Amino acid sequence: MRRAVVRGTGHYLPERVVENSYFEGKLDTTDEWIRSRSGIERRHFAAEGQKTSDLGIAACNAALEKAGIAADRVDALIVATSTPDLTFPSVATMIQAGIGMTRGFAFDVQAVCAGFVFAMSTADALIRSGQADRVLVVGAETFSRIMDWTDRSTCVLFGDGAGAVLLEVEEGAGEVSDRGILATDLNSDGNFRDLLYVDGGVGSTGTSGHLRMQGNLVFRHAVEKLANTAHRALDKAGIAAEAVDWLVPHQANLRIIESTAKRMHLPMEKVVLTVADHGNTSAASIPLALSVADRRAQFTPGQVLVLEAIGGGLAWGSVVLRW
Ligand code: ACO
Repeated sequence: MRRAVVRGTGHYLPERVVENSYFEGKLDTTDEWIRSRSGIERRHFAAEGQKTSDLGIAACNAALEKAGIAADRVDALIVATSTPDLTFPSVATMIQAGIGMTRGFAFDVQAVCAGFVFAMSTADALIRSGQADRVLVVGAETFSRIMDWTDRSTCVLFGDGAGAVLLEVEEGAGEVSDRGILATDLNSDGNFRDLLYVDGGVGSTGTSGHLRMQGNLVFRHAVEKLANTAHRALDKAGIAAEAVDWLVPHQANLRIIESTAKRMHLPMEKVVLTVADHGNTSAASIPLALSVADRRAQFTPGQVLVLEAIGGGLAWGSVVLRW
């Protein structure tokens, strides 16, 4: 049996760091409100002209270096993003060219903040089915480009960044390798479209539009759906919740993360947190958190990680993997 094992992680954050206090002079808001409601203290914003693909290229190069694998050995590159450079071609093909990957195939997936989980599940399927041996899975976003800077309820929450993971096939000595992605669980329900969306696009306004969110309603769905999907993926993997070593959640809101951890009976010491420093970077938030934790040497081989996310759609899901 073939398994998709994490060989390397990498990330990139734009140089410009914006503290909560930056918004105090511009909007009717305070550092205290942002901190207490979301857990966010600062975020990074891309420089003018810096595109999602630029962030992704830097993250991929870091992941390849960590894995010790050259770009021309990668079979597939999947990018989760909602903020592509252009309507087409895909950000994935731009990153493919940027890292010097001259073979294989590349494509984008779009599941907003849940995008990285959907991309990991897709990569896992490609590896298990023998269509690829090595897959780069990327989350890259420039959400600062779709903010309405007059809307205090959204523009203080998001940031820019990119993270990448290099997955490689490992075949078990016996029947199964016990490392790698053990199970995934994907969900969406398009009836919740109006809770979180961008009010523009090619087929509507012809502009890129701005993010609109009914935050308190999304919050309620997140609290309920994230623990459920995590439990379903753990069931599929045949792993008890008590055996989880690390929760690596989508970093949208500290209160949602705390509530999910509580429902999973996990102490906060077992939760990877980057929300204070990154804000919500949508599809980039989980690979960013993975890469930051990896560089802090938080994970040890054999540990069980649960990744989970929810975003526009609504779309939500989780991944259980053994490090
Ligand atoms: N500063 C000060 N006051 C504010 C601000 C602000 N920046 N923003 C909103 N408020 C006010 C509101 O106007 C409201 O005032 P009112 O009571 O007079 O009407 C009050 O604060 C409370 O607003 P709520 O929206 O009820 O606040 P809540 O406690 O729910 O926190 C938040 C808001 C942080 C957005 C939270 O709901 C949240 O995190 N939601 C989930 C976000 C999320 O997970 N999104 C999914 C992923 S994102 C993606 O897919 C792209």
